Order: sequence, then C-alpha cells, then structure tokens
Amino acid sequence: MEKNKLNIAVIGSSAMGISHMKGVVNNKNANLYAVCDIDNEALNEAKTKYNVDIAVQDYKELVNDKNVDAVIIVTPDQLHLEMTKAFLEAGKHVLCEKPMALNMMECEEMMRIQHQTGNMLMIGQVCRCTPAFIMAKEIVDSGRIGDLFFVESEYAHNYENAEGKNSWRKTPERSSFIGGGCHAVDLLRWIAGDPTEVTAYSNHKCMLDWPTDDCVIAIYKFPNNVIGKVFVSTGCRRDYTMRTVLYGTRGTIICDNTSPEIYLYTMDEPLADGKISYTHPQKLPVNINNHNVGAEIDQFVDAIINGNTSPVSPLEGASTVAVCCRTVESAAIGSTLKINYPVY
Ligand SMILES: NC(=O)c1ccc[n+]([C@@H]2O[C@H](COP(=O)([O-])OP(=O)(O)OC[C@H]3O[C@@H](n4cnc5c(N)ncnc54)[C@H](O)[C@@H]3O)[C@@H](O)[C@H]2O)c1
Repeated sequence: MEKNKLNIAVIGSSAMGISHMKGVVNNKNANLYAVCDIDNEALNEAKTKYNVDIAVQDYKELVNDKNVDAVIIVTPDQLHLEMTKAFLEAGKHVLCEKPMALNMMECEEMMRIQHQTGNMLMIGQVCRCTPAFIMAKEIVDSGRIGDLFFVESEYAHNYENAEGKNSWRKTPERSSFIGGGCHAVDLLRWIAGDPTEVTAYSNHKCMLDWPTDDCVIAIYKFPNNVIGKVFVSTGCRRDYTMRTVLYGTRGTIICDNTSPEIYLYTMDEPLADGKISYTHPQKLPVNINNHNVGAEIDQFVDAIINGNTSPVSPLEGASTVAVCCRTVESAAIGSTLKINYPVY
C-alpha cells in the first residue's frame, strides 16, 4: 500500500473491471489496493495480472477497511444501489458504472445517500470521455456549426454474446434502452440539454429469447427548439457503433466512437472562388477509444484530490435514467410523454 496515493478498490473483475483496474494502475495518484469478484477465476486473474495483495470474493470485507479511499463498482446494474450505498455510508468515494440504476427509485436513493454522506459519487457515463464526442461537443460549444436544430445518436450493439455472467442483462427489468441506450441518451443530453418530451416505438424481432424489445426509436424535444432522435438495437447484424450526427444552421458533425476521424461540414471556409460551401467535409483525426475509462478514472481521482464536485454527478446519472425510463414507458403505452427530472 502506498500512503501518498488514493487507495482504490475495484469491485467486479470482468473485462470491463480489468479496464478500470488498468486505468487505476496508470494513474500516478492512485493505487490499486484491492480487487473483488464473487467468481474466483475472474478474481485470481485480476489479482495475478495486477499483482494486488488484497483480493476478496465478498465486497463487504472492503466496506469497513479503513485503508480504502475510493471504490469503482463494475458489477451488474442490479447491484449498483446496494454497493454504492454500503461504500458511501462507510465514508468512501464511489465511481459507479452506468447506468446509475435501472429505475428512478434506486437513483433517488443513491442521490439521497450521496447528499447525506457528502462523499463523491461519479457515474461512469464514459461517452463524455470518448475523444470523438469530446471534440464534437467542443465544436458545437464554439458556435462553429451555428445553432443546433437536430441531433441524433444510435447504440447499435449485438447482444448475442453479451448476456453478462449469470445472464443479468437478459432480465425483464434491464431494458436494452436503459442498459445500452443510456450511452446515446447521455451523449445527447450532454450536448443538447435535457429533453422535455418523448415519443417512442419499439419492436422485438431479432433476440427472441430475450425478455425485452431489442429495437427502440425515440424522438425527443430538446431545449431551444432542437429536436432529436435515439435509435437502439441490440439485435442488429452489424458491428458495434454509436454513430452520432449533430446538425447546426452553419454546419454538421458526423462522428462515432469507432472511427479514427470525425467529419465536419462548415460554411466558415470560403472556396477559392469566394463562394461559401459546406460540400467538402474536413476529416479531423481522433483516437479511437470508445471505453475511455482511463480518462474517466483520471477525472474521478483529480476531483477527489482537489476537492472538486463530481465530474458526472448523481443528478446527471439519474437524469439520463429518467429519460431512458420514460422512453421505455412511451414505447410500451404508445403515447407521447413529458419527461420529469429528479431534484437534487
Ligand atoms: N461503460 C461502458 O461502456 C460499459 C461497458 C460494459 C459494461 N458496463 C457496465 O459495467 C457493469 C458490469 O458489466 P460487465 O459487462 O462487466 O458484466 P459481466 O457480467 O461481464 O461482469 C460482472 C462481474 O461482476 C461480478 N459480480 C457479480 N456479482 C458480484 C458481487 N455480488 N460481488 C462482486 N462481484 C460480483 C461477476 O462475477 C462478473 O465478473 C454493468 O453495470 C454494465 O452496465 C459499462
């Protein structure tokens, strides 16, 4: 244990858990103090890979370990509340994977406990750390593409081999729109603000042995008269992508988290003949890093050390879940619904 660094425990030692462990090991102000998984094989793999002294199957053994400063929760969504509550109440800071939880009651309980304890709770909405999306947001914020009028994002991810250990994804409470679609919803909220209204449709044609619809399309009203769309398919026969297009009055950005460049169409570069044209997109290079958990952990550690507020607050995480839950409801009842946000 290195006393001058934050001691971090990672709960959940899957491939995603291993990515988090790598992020901790690469952060100069953090020490991977402990790892945890109920699955002994996954636990031993992580312990050996990172040469960690403390490896436990029961997370409760870490709750009252006074050497633990912060915890990263990378376990099934259904466990986020229970584990976040236990660690926050024990005085630890928590980075909890997305989605914050699967319903608003759990999100509100997590917000309440964070507020009561005052410890940091960050939600791992990792698209906010994806290089292509960071660049796209910077361009939008700079005003270079004018006023946004339409935004769209998709989460196309075939789930055939992604049930998660013990099939925790394949359960009725874990709609693909909440579990996976939260990435696209959070990305659009980050860029265009909180949508006020949703109309959604869904169907179930590809993953017939899964309990929830595998295709959802949702139309939103965003602030400032921006309209938007999120498409989620977890049965699609194609490679994973989160293609995102941001349309402004003076330009358009086409980006995703799986390409080495983003396309920027603007009207701010006159052609040689002096005409204004948007027909030649600039291709701006970006690193492909769609699960940029290293950057996420850097933000988490920096915020703790500097006493700053959470980089992705519980309110942000809960607001994304609020939009997702309302979308699922709209698709189920076939009506347009207002979106209500939690108060913090
Ligand atoms: N940010 C992203 O892009 C991204 C990507 C994948 C998963 N996730 C999120 O990460 C979390 C984990 O997903 P995953 O893909 O790693 O799932 P997984 O099923 O592959 O792994 C979960 C791990 O948690 C362990 N586990 C289960 N119950 C436990 C308990 N009580 N105590 C300790 N360990 C326990 C399992 O044994 C398993 O090793 C989920 O919340 C998921 O939504 C986020």
